[in-house]
Amino acid sequence: KRLLLSTVFILKVNLQSEMWFANCDFTNARDNVSQAYPIANPDACRNSDLFLLALVFSSTANVTQRDTVRRTWANQTAIQGFPVKILFFLGSTQTAAAQTALMAESELNGDMVQGHAVADSSLRGPTERTVLALRWVIAFCPVARFVLLTKDSVFINLPAVGGYLLGLHRHPEDLYLGRVIQRDSPDRDPHSPGYLPPALYPDKYLPEYCEGTAYVLSQDVVRKVYVASAAVRAPVPADVFVGLCAQKAGVAPTHSARFAGEKHVRYNTCCYSYLFSSAGMRRHELDAVWADLGQKGATCSVLQTYYGLVKCKALTYLDKLTFFNSQSQAEWHG
Ligand SMILES: *[C@@H]1O[C@H](CO)[C@@H](O)[C@H](O)[C@H]1NC(C)=O
Ligand SMILES: *[C@@H]1O[C@H](CO)[C@@H](O)[C@H](O)[C@H]1NC(C)=O
Ligand SMILES: *[C@@H]1O[C@H](CO)[C@@H](O)[C@H](O)[C@H]1NC(C)=O
Repeated sequence: KRLLLSTVFILKVNLQSEMWFANCDFTNARDNVSQAYPIANPDACRNSDLFLLALVFSSTANVTQRDTVRRTWANQTAIQGFPVKILFFLGSTQTAAAQTALMAESELNGDMVQGHAVADSSLRGPTERTVLALRWVIAFCPVARFVLLTKDSVFINLPAVGGYLLGLHRHPEDLYLGRVIQRDSPDRDPHSPGYLPPALYPDKYLPEYCEGTAYVLSQDVVRKVYVASAAVRAPVPADVFVGLCAQKAGVAPTHSARFAGEKHVRYNTCCYSYLFSSAGMRRHELDAVWADLGQKGATCSVLQTYYGLVKCKALTYLDKLTFFNSQSQAEWHG
């Protein structure tokens, strides 16, 4: 029944997003592709009715970290029969030798995209990379229902995230899901590189946004945020930038405490099988988690999961991780 429902949702969304697409001018999304994407990987999403695309930000030097992600949580192609894909998203390289090495790695694994910083762009570093990643999704992966953005030092529990998305009792659109940060103050220090002058942003607080370690956008939100990004010019971190764009596009974030945010959660089988993400994972930790949790996941009873969460909460001071509340779909909406 769930399968049937999801299929109906997907059909419906296809129609709706095509209508949305028709109203918007994305003709330039594929422009200058070879300039903007030295590694464009245009066939990565071809011929696949993709349910979830995970884009993993990585730096050129982090090749061993990427290999670890490849052999651990990214070594999955479907969740409950729905196709998933994991791609690494990289920025510009410093040297020709580094570029050659990157091309070779891409050739070997076929799971990389490289976005190239544009000299006259007013965006900086990670923010520009995020916008390039969203533009790549619109140009080359419009079939993906959901896009998860994360980085190579994070463990993602794909079956848990996928299960949650499949279980949403609504259409897979208008979704901006993550660990929502509330009442964050703008940087008002004039000497800081992230200084946000009141003239540019007068409000006392930043809009609510999903913490950037791991968050999910539905395909329509990818488009809305990308369109809004052309008009948002603020020297803020990438996740805040996405939050500003979402606010401009009228998309409200949805909170799930199952994203651990920037926190590293000490390993416990029943805790990790419930969480969506844990940050700051070193290579041996990713290997150890995968060896234990593996592809099939753990079979933890409700009580075991509860005690697992109590334990990992106590170990990491994770706040707001209330298992019995978030079991229902009634998680509070940011
Ligand atoms: C493509 O390149 C031309 C010339 O370099 C530039 O004017 C135009 O804005 C670029 N388009 C996009 C979408 O970046
Ligand atoms: C590269 O790996 C280190 C840990 O090995 C991590 O701290 C860093 O965030 C990674 N870089 C990126 C861009 O993810
Ligand atoms: C992925 O998992 C399969 C077994 O399910 C294994 O044969 C394969 O070697 C793994 N791939 C990598 C890159 O480790």
